[in-house]
Formats: sequence, C-alpha cells, structure tokens
Amino acid sequence: MNTFAYYNPTRLFFGKDTLDHLLTHIPSYGKKVLLVYGGGSIKRNGIYDRVISLLTRQNAEVHELSGVEPNPRLSTVHKGVQLCQKQGIQFILAVGGGSVIDCVKAIAIGAKYDGDVWDIITRKATAQDALPFGTVLTLAATGSEMNSGSVITNWETQEKYGWGSPLVFPKFSILNPEFTFSVPKDQTVYGMVDIMSHVFEQYFHHTGNSPVQDGFCETILRVVIATAPKLVDNLEQFEARETILYSGTMALNGTLAMGVRGDWATHNIEHAVSAVYDIPHGGGLAILFPNWMEHVLDSGVSRFKQFAINVFGIDPAGKSDRETALEGIRALRSFWSSIGAPSRLADYGIGDDKLELMADKAMVYGPFGNFKSLQREDVLAIYRKSL
Ligand code: NZQ
Ligand code: ZN
Repeated sequence: MNTFAYYNPTRLFFGKDTLDHLLTHIPSYGKKVLLVYGGGSIKRNGIYDRVISLLTRQNAEVHELSGVEPNPRLSTVHKGVQLCQKQGIQFILAVGGGSVIDCVKAIAIGAKYDGDVWDIITRKATAQDALPFGTVLTLAATGSEMNSGSVITNWETQEKYGWGSPLVFPKFSILNPEFTFSVPKDQTVYGMVDIMSHVFEQYFHHTGNSPVQDGFCETILRVVIATAPKLVDNLEQFEARETILYSGTMALNGTLAMGVRGDWATHNIEHAVSAVYDIPHGGGLAILFPNWMEHVLDSGVSRFKQFAINVFGIDPAGKSDRETALEGIRALRSFWSSIGAPSRLADYGIGDDKLELMADKAMVYGPFGNFKSLQREDVLAIYRKSL
C-alpha cells in the first residue's frame, strides 16, 4: 500500500424518512437559502414540494436556480454565483443528481471568489473559501454526494473538466432510495455503469498488497452485477434501489482509494467525448471502458485475470492468463449489453470526424493514466475501437 491520508467530513443520512434532517441541518447557516435543481424531475415526483415545505417550516428565505443541465454548464454556474452574491445567500441546497450537485460545488466556490470560477476549474487559481451546501440526492451514480469533486462543461469552448477542493465536501447529504424510483431505465443503467467504472478506475492499479481494497472493489462489482437485472426489471424495487444507491456512494467517497493509486484515464477520455457531443457520462463509459481494458491489458494481465475470476467467476482451468483476462472483459461487455447499455459511439450517432479534436481535448494536461500512461495515439486507438 502507499502512504495515505483520508478526510471526509460529509454527514450522511441514508434511508426512508431522512428528509426531515433538513430541519436541523440548515438553520445554523442562516435563513437565505438557494435551492438548486435540474430540468423538473423533482417537480414531477413530488420531492420539490416536500423540500419547500420543510424550508418554509424553518422560515427560510428561499431563492431558486432551476434548469441545471445534465453535464452542467459554466453559464449556469455563473447564474448561480450572481444570485448568491446579489441575494447574500448563506446556504445552498442541491436537489438532484450528480450534475446538480457538481454545479452547486462550483457555485459555492464561485460565490466566494473574486474572479471567474473557470480559473479554479482549469487549475489557474486555487479556491480559498466556499459557501456551505447540502444535497438531497435523486440519482445513484457519481458519488458527488460524498466527495469533493465536480465536473463542469464550458459549452462555448467545448471543454469539460473535473476539479476538486476539500472546501466542496457537502455539509450533509440525504439519500432516500425512494427518491430514485422515478429515474428512467436508461439513466438507471448509466448510473450503474458509472458506479462500476468508478470501481474500475480504483481497482486497476499496480500498487502492491491491497487485499482489503481489492475485496471492497470486487464486492461492489459483484453486488451491482447481481442487482442490476432485478432493478431494470422493476424500477421501483426498494431493496435494489437501496443497494445501488449505497454502492454509488461507497464507490467514490474515498474509501476505495485509500493506499492505492487509481488510473482515471477512461474518465478523462469520456469527458472529452461528452464535452464535444453532450452524451450521458455513463453511456460514454459503457462504450469506452472495455476498449480501454483491451488496450492496456498487457500492462497488467494478472490484474485482469483476478478481475475475471473474482468478479465474473470465469474458470481459468486450461486457459492462459491472457485468455482468462480477455474472457472477463468479454463478460463485462455482454453484461452491460444485457442491461441495455450502449456499446458503440455509433449508438449516439458519433462517427470518426471529430476523433482528433476529442483526443486533443483529452490530452490538455498531457499524458494520463496510472495503470498505463496514455499518449495521444493511445487515446485515438481507443476512440477508433469504440466507433
Ligand atoms: O434535470 P432533471 O429533470 O432532474 O433530470 C435528470 C437528468 O435529466 C434525471 N434525474 C435525476 N434524478 C431523477 C431524474 N429523473 C427522474 N427521477 C429522478 N429521481 O436524470 C438525468 C441525468 O441527471 P445527472 O445529474 O446529469 O446524472 P448523473 O448523476 O449521472 O451526473 C452526471 C454528471 O456528473 C459528472 C458527469 O461527468 C456528468 O457531468 N460526474 C461527476 C463526478 C463527481 N462529482 O464526483 C464523477 C463522475 O465520474 C462524473 O464524471
Ligand atoms: Zn464517472
């Protein structure tokens, strides 16, 4: 294991009937609350009314920012920053999926920064302060509810970057599996792909002696694989929603990263695709991850063999390590297809005309990936294989 430090101050409330915690965990920050949400799902499923009623009970002065896009945009962050500064907002409440939460993280920083928050997202400046915020999660996927990362798209320049700061851990996050009942089938599948991908990014590493971390990763993967078919069959199955919601948080709240150096290349490659084509993050990962795996396989066949055996139960008898490893990757492809995930860029109407542009965007910060360091030609090869 590597030397590591761990810090996670987010208070988590998980389960039915947890929304009332809004009553006790907002008032100490002040009365002026900015409620941020997306394109309207929380109005259709009733969560909006329940949140407003609790905010009214605590006499909060509620301001609203709605319409946060999937793949949240810098222009919306700017609107939120202006609202915070003009209205003297004291606390922000994000109600939605990862996009709403990520947008709020950038607003929280931007409201306290004397300049354009894009400077911080592009690492030209470091955040010094942030408004406090909490979240009510409505979609299991990103882990943003319990981490300090955020991903923002500048649509004008077609750039999408992840950034982070210890200042943007949510003060609290409320996770009620019932709030995810209304997530449509495609988004549910994208979420599960994203969760599995977060595990992959932290599982494929060369750090030695990580049996506990490996076990955590393999358990989450096996559980998501066992639960996903039940969930896509019945989107309101409480236990399945509960399991996936918990898996999503555990996959990216820092637990799996302790003592190991994750890869994160595939996320970078996907962000370049969704920066140009605005496709769902999980959909992009479903297409790219198996191709990344085959591309980097020879940098660590034993790791992929372990994955094949421990996650998909592949029998290694009579096979070379490489054959076993490849069978594991094939099993992943067919599992994702079986739950309805896309498998080719063509599924989103993406052809080969902007591969060079996407590769340029992926390479902005130079070669990347810790399992295998990827150069521009590697990225292009993975895109070509994904067509
Ligand atoms: O906008 P509304 O109307 O709310 O609809 C959303 C949106 O259309 C809908 N939805 C959410 N909860 C729902 C629901 N529909 C019905 N019922 C509900 N309960 O789902 C759609 C997608 O929502 P979004 O928030 O975009 O999805 P997700 O949580 O997958 O977030 C994706 C974003 O997170 C970034 C991605 O790049 C992408 O921009 N990521 C953030 C990470 C982080 N902060 O740690 C890590 C991830 O790897 C990821 O990159
Ligand atoms: Zn992701």
